[in-house]
Amino acid sequence: MANIIIIGMQWGDEGKGKIVDLLTEFAHVVVRFQGGNNAGHTVVVGQHRVILHLIPSGALYPDKKCVIGNGVVVDPQVLLREIDELQKLGYFKDDEQLMISENAHLIMPYHRRIDVARERMKGEGKIGTTGRGIGPAYEDKIAREGIRVGDLFDETVFRKKLEANLAAKNPCLETCLRDKGFDPEAIFKGYMEYAGRLIKYVANTSVFIDREIKQGRHILFEGAQGTHLDVDHGTYPFVTSSNTVAGGACTGAGIGPTKITEVIGVSKAYTTRVGEGPFPTELKDEVGEIIRERGREFGATTGRPRRCGWLDIPLLREAIRLNGLTGIALTKMDVLGEFETIKICTSYKYRNKRCEGVPSQTHVLKECEPVYEEIPGWKAELRNARNFHDLPPKAKDYVRRVEELTDTEVILVSVGERREETILRRNPFNLGPRLS
Ligand code: IMP
Repeated sequence: MANIIIIGMQWGDEGKGKIVDLLTEFAHVVVRFQGGNNAGHTVVVGQHRVILHLIPSGALYPDKKCVIGNGVVVDPQVLLREIDELQKLGYFKDDEQLMISENAHLIMPYHRRIDVARERMKGEGKIGTTGRGIGPAYEDKIAREGIRVGDLFDETVFRKKLEANLAAKNPCLETCLRDKGFDPEAIFKGYMEYAGRLIKYVANTSVFIDREIKQGRHILFEGAQGTHLDVDHGTYPFVTSSNTVAGGACTGAGIGPTKITEVIGVSKAYTTRVGEGPFPTELKDEVGEIIRERGREFGATTGRPRRCGWLDIPLLREAIRLNGLTGIALTKMDVLGEFETIKICTSYKYRNKRCEGVPSQTHVLKECEPVYEEIPGWKAELRNARNFHDLPPKAKDYVRRVEELTDTEVILVSVGERREETILRRNPFNLGPRLS
């Protein structure tokens, strides 16, 4: 049995889509367990560059099951569009490939409008959300007012819940948020149409996953966003509204922690962030610009330019602790091939005093300055490396330094966006032929 969680170690966009796609070869089932279509997981196969927002990154293998767990918030319109787009590209032909939890909560049109209107009202103090209605949908879930996927299939229940929600939300939208309210009939009609198309995918996915585990199948749990966007442990309030850490896989998929065999963290060889919030190693200069251009650091969901900076070890150490990581997948090493020297942040200074770890108070972190060590760059193209020994000595030194500073093994190094542009040093599924 090998049931593996893949988690982002930074603020999202670490390249989890590629890693999940790659490891799906060794799994039978891929499960999304939190977040929604705020995520944008880019996978490149052959001529196709596919961006998946809701469907697990295993979708590109016809014989693998993809599960959207109860912890995900589902925008049915986006999901159906994604299914259509995948089918047009020749994937996802078999309806049996996808399962959606009946307990997953629905993103409703009012969630999107509330999200955008709130950000507008906050002005300078905005979070920088993706505007997809994620926060408002999770709020309703926790307030016990949400509408779940299973509710779509009973018109009376759905209508009653929709009307109760709009009775509360329309006045709030119109008065507090100075926006427009919604007509329940229009939403009802649209969502009943979605229901007709979605019903074939809906199931009790917790029972399904349990059965698969009992049959000895391998499960891959695909995290979205990153550790430092976790609603409890991230840079609050500049976070998303779900638990992005590994613990979220158990609640968000409906399985027990004893079933998990490994947790792999994905980190870029540098750091990026989209949206607002503290970012100690951010580079607002030409170096940051070079990283953005070479790494094509523009949001897969919103197209926003990502903020870029050097690798931040305190953030990674925190992610290792919070997720109980057993290995690191280091991505986008090729992007750093331009620099004479490369900096690694090993700790922070706050008001001239060294900090232990990452301060949990966001206003303190905002004032923290990075303490760097500078190491020689490798100034070489890495894309053809397939084996650790193929890397130039200085690139190997960089990987080893990351291992030393984090006290964690780097099991995979990614040197390009294609599946084959990868060095797999240890296969967490323990089946792999490509060890180096
Ligand atoms: P929300 O998840 O749309 O509410 O956005 C909250 C914060 O999380 C914002 O800073 C977003 O930019 C960030 N965020 C949400 N999803 C992602 C993602 O998939 N990658 C990177 N940042 C994200």
